[in-house]
Amino acid sequence: HQRRCREEIQEIIRDRKTLQWEDLGKMTYSTMCIRESLRLYPPVPGVSRQLSKPITFPDGRTLPEGSITAISIFLIHRNPAVWKDPLVFDPLRFSPENVSGRHSHAFLPFSAGMRNCIGQQEMKVLLALTLLRFELLPDPTKPPLKIPQIILRSKNGIHLFLKKIH
Ligand code: HEM
Repeated sequence: HQRRCREEIQEIIRDRKTLQWEDLGKMTYSTMCIRESLRLYPPVPGVSRQLSKPITFPDGRTLPEGSITAISIFLIHRNPAVWKDPLVFDPLRFSPENVSGRHSHAFLPFSAGMRNCIGQQEMKVLLALTLLRFELLPDPTKPPLKIPQIILRSKNGIHLFLKKIH
């Protein structure tokens, strides 16, 4: 996947030195990879709310006003009823055909509704500039240990090898 993203970016940028705004819209495969990463490792693993009025769920159960509720974005993104083989990294889940068959709230890295994220510019620029310069390899001796805090973190850091691309 990394090689395919790099090739896509190299083809877009060709012999230019910098990225241009229009380039971002052409990064089709890279964008699918970013979304698939946000699915498996949502930086905000959950959100919570205090109910301003009672709520009744489709199955008839209710919660009273004032209840504190929490939604796990992490678990929504790994729900096997929605995502086939949820632990497999497959960017094609975000192809236009596959997205159109899915509920709009199956993928919620930026939450939804009135209080969703205002900073959804994703990480395309950073990804492009990094992949043009380096090949990234995980350090198998130090896999990240996920720990859910307000953001999803790694308890032991994120250890990578960087190989310079000439
Ligand atoms: C990958 C990066 C990011 C992710 C995954 C993310 C995710 C989220 C999520 C899930 C929420 C909803 C929180 C809740 O409902 O309790 C949120 C809200 C928010 N985000 Fe982000 N965010 C990201 C980057 C950014 C950036 C770069 C900015 C600033 C430019 C930003 C600004 C905000 C603000 C101001 C809110 C609150 C909006 C409101 O309550 O009306 N976010 N974000």
